[in-house]
Amino acid sequence: MAEAAGNQEAKDYGIGVPQKTEGFFLKGSGHLDWGMKDRLSRVFNPKSGRTVMLAFDHGYIMGPTSGLERMDLTITPLIPYADCLMCTRGALRQIVPPTSNKPVALRVSAGSTILTDLNDECVMDIEESIRLNACLMAAMVAIGGKFEALTIRNLTQLIDAGNRVGIPTLGVNAVGKELVRDARYLGLATRVIAENGAHVVKTYYCSPGFEKVAAACPVPIVVAGGKKLPELEALQMAYEAIDQGAAGMDMGRNVFQAEHPVAMIQAVRGVVHDNLKPKAAFDLYQTIKNKKK
Ligand code: R5P
Repeated sequence: MAEAAGNQEAKDYGIGVPQKTEGFFLKGSGHLDWGMKDRLSRVFNPKSGRTVMLAFDHGYIMGPTSGLERMDLTITPLIPYADCLMCTRGALRQIVPPTSNKPVALRVSAGSTILTDLNDECVMDIEESIRLNACLMAAMVAIGGKFEALTIRNLTQLIDAGNRVGIPTLGVNAVGKELVRDARYLGLATRVIAENGAHVVKTYYCSPGFEKVAAACPVPIVVAGGKKLPELEALQMAYEAIDQGAAGMDMGRNVFQAEHPVAMIQAVRGVVHDNLKPKAAFDLYQTIKNKKK
């Protein structure tokens, strides 16, 4: 019970010592509110400034993709090694144990599949992201595609709603078949997504010129893995992306379709958080893969 009288006198005012005002480690995020920064600090490791997101939201447009047929069997063993889980609300509720306590980049846009016209999407109500404790809301943004205007509207709608409640938005650069994934296009797309207010942008790696894409994007970029590559090549791509300014990987198929997914995600972590060179990361992959159970 608080007392009005008889309390120890307050005297440690630190007169003359300026109050500490911490900066914030993430690019372009210094002026965000506390809740946003808290969520971003769960997604990105404040020590390395980077993240390894495990993407397994493919089913919402592709159905039971290879490696995701039984997510309870293939994805749950990977969860402990991910910094953040990128998934749909279906997968989250169906297979992710809430006790895993991992930050979630929730896929909140949907509307079409690979059988029709991709990116003809709408976005979920903000209440669902609050209910599911999302740390990022992920939406497709089809710059240069048929649904460019619609998906930019979706993005701004999400950002407005997220800004009201402190949930940051991840703009996903959806590259249509007709577009070339070069530095010119990716630079334009990522910049447009960031300037529309996205707090994080997800895009693809390109060579040459990725360092320009990353430099001209005023918020952190995370890089998708794309189609399955041999493990050493995927690690090489991750290394180059990080070395040239990406703040993390948002990898799916190159992890869960790897010969040994648990080893692969740890090798990707080595690249992202410990600056391992591709060969060293591949050695780590082999060592974990060959360990006796
Ligand atoms: C893209 O928007 C998908 O939803 C995936 O999250 C993304 O492509 C990352 O997965 P992957 O590394 O398999 O490309």
